[in-house]
Amino acid sequence: MNSLRPIILIITAFLSMFISVAVLIFFLSPSSIKSYTTGAPLVPTPKKEIKAALKAVGLTSEDRFFDLGSGTGKSLIIASKDFGAEVVGIDHSRPNVLISRINLKVKKVKGKIICQNLLKTDLREADVIFTYLSPSLMEKLEKKIKKEKVSLRVASYCFSFPGLKEEKVLKTANGKNIFIYDI
Ligand SMILES: C[S@@+](CC[C@H](N)C(=O)[O-])C[C@H]1O[C@@H](n2cnc3c(N)ncnc32)[C@H](O)[C@@H]1O
Repeated sequence: MNSLRPIILIITAFLSMFISVAVLIFFLSPSSIKSYTTGAPLVPTPKKEIKAALKAVGLTSEDRFFDLGSGTGKSLIIASKDFGAEVVGIDHSRPNVLISRINLKVKKVKGKIICQNLLKTDLREADVIFTYLSPSLMEKLEKKIKKEKVSLRVASYCFSFPGLKEEKVLKTANGKNIFIYDI
């Protein structure tokens, strides 16, 4: 047993090093850093709030649903499983895209996840969008929507479009707002 100890120590040291490097690559990849510096890092919306938002925006199985900044893919799974919508996720963080693709596979949800800056997304493809971003991204997204003259239903968790009148605002159990738009 004593003769095995150095081998076990070497294996343990190697594994710890491997895990540390993997974690560092994951969190310090340029795409992850970008998502922290844009002010909309990965903070998944609670399941109950997503369901309330999708119900309020009137999502149906006829709709193509986009989550702009799709994170772990949580809303895509709910939109597909509970509402029957066709789902597309957009996220510029490669680790998030990888995680969400795995999550969709595990939950047997057919959907597309695109690694892209949401400000470059072709919104003509979407009927309904969900967002949980930041005030500055909402302002930029509003400019894009107005410039491209797209027609959309939007459910936005926590943050509103500064220059658009919402159709309704829901207060959630955890004290947050869900802004609903019909643009
Ligand atoms: C607060 S999380 C919301 C995640 C998910 N929508 C949810 O509600 O659970 C914001 C997400 O937006 C992504 N994101 C931030 N800026 C983005 C951008 N310009 N283009 C694409 N994704 C972006 C982040 O990587 C992160 O996954």
